[in-house]
Amino acid sequence: MGRNKITILGAGNVGAATAHIAATRNLGDIVLLDIVEGLAQGKALDIAQAGPVQSYDCKIVGTRDWKQTADSNIVIVTSGLPRRPGMSRDDLLAKNVQIVKDVSEKIAAYSPNSIVIVVCNPLDAMAYAAAKVTGFDKNKVMGMAGELDSARFSYFLASELGASVKDIKCILMGGHGDDMVPLTRFTSISGKPVTELLDKAKLDELIERTRKGGIEIVNLLGSSAYYAPAAGTVKMAEAILKDNKTILSCCAYCDSEYNVGGYFVGVPVVLGKNGAEKVLQLDLNEHEQAQFEKSLAHVKQLAAKVDKLL
Ligand SMILES: NC(=O)c1ccc[n+]([C@@H]2O[C@H](COP(=O)([O-])OP(=O)(O)OC[C@H]3O[C@@H](n4cnc5c(N)ncnc54)[C@H](O)[C@@H]3O)[C@@H](O)[C@H]2O)c1
Repeated sequence: MGRNKITILGAGNVGAATAHIAATRNLGDIVLLDIVEGLAQGKALDIAQAGPVQSYDCKIVGTRDWKQTADSNIVIVTSGLPRRPGMSRDDLLAKNVQIVKDVSEKIAAYSPNSIVIVVCNPLDAMAYAAAKVTGFDKNKVMGMAGELDSARFSYFLASELGASVKDIKCILMGGHGDDMVPLTRFTSISGKPVTELLDKAKLDELIERTRKGGIEIVNLLGSSAYYAPAAGTVKMAEAILKDNKTILSCCAYCDSEYNVGGYFVGVPVVLGKNGAEKVLQLDLNEHEQAQFEKSLAHVKQLAAKVDKLL
């Protein structure tokens, strides 16, 4: 059996951090591709030179040449503009949909059997665009956002409770936007629901900080986050490559599930060698379902814009 091949499109902040974390996890050989001359090559060489220190020996290639990406098992799409202060993720749609269209056509041509993880924003709309353009089976295209948003919520909860982040299990649904839905009823610390550990006012405060977690970093850095997004992306790639059937919050295609009706949106998903293998159906109460539907309505509006632009 050959080694896994992971292509990462975009060698900017998220792409390079993803390549580095994937290398430290020894997930397979990595191709980093960018349109900017020298960028992917330079970052790949730098990451490869950390290998002797960090004990990874995967091959890491930086390139502008799509031929080098051929027959990848996984393609990660970070190519796209990031937010700047004052921007919403939705402001990126018109430009990023053209980038996603361009790279999706090439993914379909060079790696027709790959599984695609979209990272660029607005996330749910870009996953929808990638699925439409590649024409891949819906289980083979997905987006990374829920792992990041859950990680942010877990971090805030652990900080508040003086607990270890390792003991927190968090589930979050909905679109990757200000109306995402962290599910406190399904979020627990060592099995104890957080609703029994923190009062509603404190939980609402932490949920609000989670929803605004992206812009908090954009305002500090002048651009968007990358270490935690990269970590979330690699976790998804690892679950797929190792076929370990982990349940993660991912942006996945849903039809009858949660009455979504054929869109990509954040839901708990079983990840394995066939990609998004199964959407887990949680028993949402009326309030949770209403919050999810509000978030989904926004996702559908963005998908309609994608349909017009493609
Ligand atoms: N899903 C999430 O949770 C999440 C989190 C953080 C960032 N993001 C998104 O990820 C994307 C990347 O963010 P970043 O901070 O790495 O931006 P960045 O500007 O640092 O990097 C993007 C890279 O993509 C490259 N690129 C553009 N068009 C390309 C093409 N056609 N082919 C190959 N490469 C191309 C650019 O040259 C650039 O180097 C943004 O859209 C950002 O909003 C998503």
